[in-house]
Amino acid sequence: MNHFNYQTDRLHCEDYPLDSLAGTYGTPCFVYSASAITTAYQTIKSAFGYHNPLICYAVKANSNLAILKRLCDLGAGFDIVSGGELVRVLSVGADPSKIVFSGVGKQTNEIEAALAAKIKCFNVESEAELHHIAEIAERLGTTAPISLRVNPDVDPKTHPYISTGLKESKFGVPMNQALRLYAAAQSLDGITVKGLDIHIGSQITQLAPYLDALDKMFILIDQLSDQGIVLEHFDIGGGMGIRYEQEPDFPIEALSDALQQKIANRKLEIILEPGRYIVANAGILLTQVLYTKHNESRAFAVVDAAMNDLIRPALYDAVQAVLPVIAQPNPSERFEIVGPICESGDFLAKDCLIDLESSALIALASAGAYGMSMSSNYNTRGRAAEVLVDGAQAQLIRRRETIDDVLAAELNLGTVTSAPSSTNSAG
Ligand code: LLP
Repeated sequence: MNHFNYQTDRLHCEDYPLDSLAGTYGTPCFVYSASAITTAYQTIKSAFGYHNPLICYAVKANSNLAILKRLCDLGAGFDIVSGGELVRVLSVGADPSKIVFSGVGKQTNEIEAALAAKIKCFNVESEAELHHIAEIAERLGTTAPISLRVNPDVDPKTHPYISTGLKESKFGVPMNQALRLYAAAQSLDGITVKGLDIHIGSQITQLAPYLDALDKMFILIDQLSDQGIVLEHFDIGGGMGIRYEQEPDFPIEALSDALQQKIANRKLEIILEPGRYIVANAGILLTQVLYTKHNESRAFAVVDAAMNDLIRPALYDAVQAVLPVIAQPNPSERFEIVGPICESGDFLAKDCLIDLESSALIALASAGAYGMSMSSNYNTRGRAAEVLVDGAQAQLIRRRETIDDVLAAELNLGTVTSAPSSTNSAG
């Protein structure tokens, strides 16, 4: 089922017309389909059914509390990358034994909070981090459950900014150091070795990079077991791509089948960290045309959403479909959809065949992942509202930010701090 569809000539999210939502909540506004999220989650769950995996939703893709709560209620665990994300998932009642903590730069207070919460696993990305976590755990009289994130040196064939599994990237530990680091981890009092972790990139549309990475990791897993280091789990990360334009559906079942074959009779719990796959096509960004303008070669539609709301087109040359909220039978003009921000990079879509005039409403498709979660206040614009639709019911799940919200953190204008005296007298 397509969760965004035209009923008569109006675009709906499930059974709610988007023009009514714009009237009630204003624009720009992210609109999410609850059943699309559930369906995507269940699709992964059942495709990997043989493995009975722990699905740790990558919170960074869309961290709205209402969405986290839904996924938590469906039984999901969470992949977090900051203390802030830890607070988010705990606040919706996440089971700490289903939380994994990824990221190359975990800070002392974040590690302490995750240890206190008793999370399932830290995905450790460097030798220095391993020792830092061990010291903190020992100081707190506990042990930290860890996986090493190993960089398998495979090319995921995606945008360079979201390729993470090549040996040149900052992520994970190099394969040729993995055995040594596992042995070191095993010998540390503050550490309990639990598993192995990979994450090779994002918006991956082919199976081959995963298969290469799995082959390399099973060799490592066997070498470790020969050395007496028997792992409990294998976290294969996220990265499963979605259809923005013409991309094929990600072969999720083929990945599960290949894993089943490769895992053979090894006893390993499987963890997945999908983000985009679960939420990207569950969301659109609803925006209104403010003005149209033409120069010699182009037609522009200036809309009220901008790169601060959806940075993917500017940052990754992402192409996200543009849908008119009121269907147009014979669009005749090609528009560039741009925002009000003072940068030429502030575009949301290029070369769209669509008829537009002021006050027209459009929806940018596939905006449920890395849309709101990457938004900013650039140009002192408040962040957009977010609405979750379930059938014919809509719920505001984040109100539009006001200018007071945006300025609130800056209002402590009375406090002046002097530099320490040694710095003061230096010159
Ligand atoms: N696990 C780890 C350790 C990650 O770093 C990521 C994403 C995921 C899981 C989830 O990946 P996914 O299943 O969503 O592909 N802002 C970019 C995507 C950045 C992905 C960063 N890491 C974009 O808009 O395309």
